Amino acid sequence: MLVKRMEDAINDQMNFEIYSAHIYLSMVSYFESQGLPGFANWMRAQYQEEIFHAMKMFDYLNEAGGRAVISALDAPTTEWESPLAAFENALEHEQLVTSRINNLMDIAREESDHATSIFLQWFISEQVEEEASVGDIVNKLRLVGDGGALFMLDRDLSTRVFTAPKEE
Ligand code: FEO
Repeated sequence: MLVKRMEDAINDQMNFEIYSAHIYLSMVSYFESQGLPGFANWMRAQYQEEIFHAMKMFDYLNEAGGRAVISALDAPTTEWESPLAAFENALEHEQLVTSRINNLMDIAREESDHATSIFLQWFISEQVEEEASVGDIVNKLRLVGDGGALFMLDRDLSTRVFTAPKEE
């Protein structure tokens, strides 16, 4: 059984994961408008990954004796100055998600909620991968600038296919 404080905190993060999905979906549209279908493809997979994260929390809430509650979300940004600016925004966002997941773990420990601690461990590991994959593209974009190499990077990113992240 989840204590109310834990249930509310997971619900807050579940909705934040849906908000993350909206940010990345907005980036899909931005990249498509810029004639960069590979970047758009990569972000589409990222959008699906965020929905996966949200649904993992949704299912946990309902299975652990709480209740998933969907709430209103802020509208995401729709314009970025450049592909690099969009990916820098994504990296900052992932760093924020990491700090929020760490905060959830702190609450689970304070409440001696061992089941939720184990559940959150997956997200702690997942965030290491999330920051690394976005950070890698930020670094590549800083190297290629706005020149023709951008289109080669676009081709590389066109190969990403969403697969549900490993369970453990
Ligand atoms: Fe669900 Fe990208 O963190």
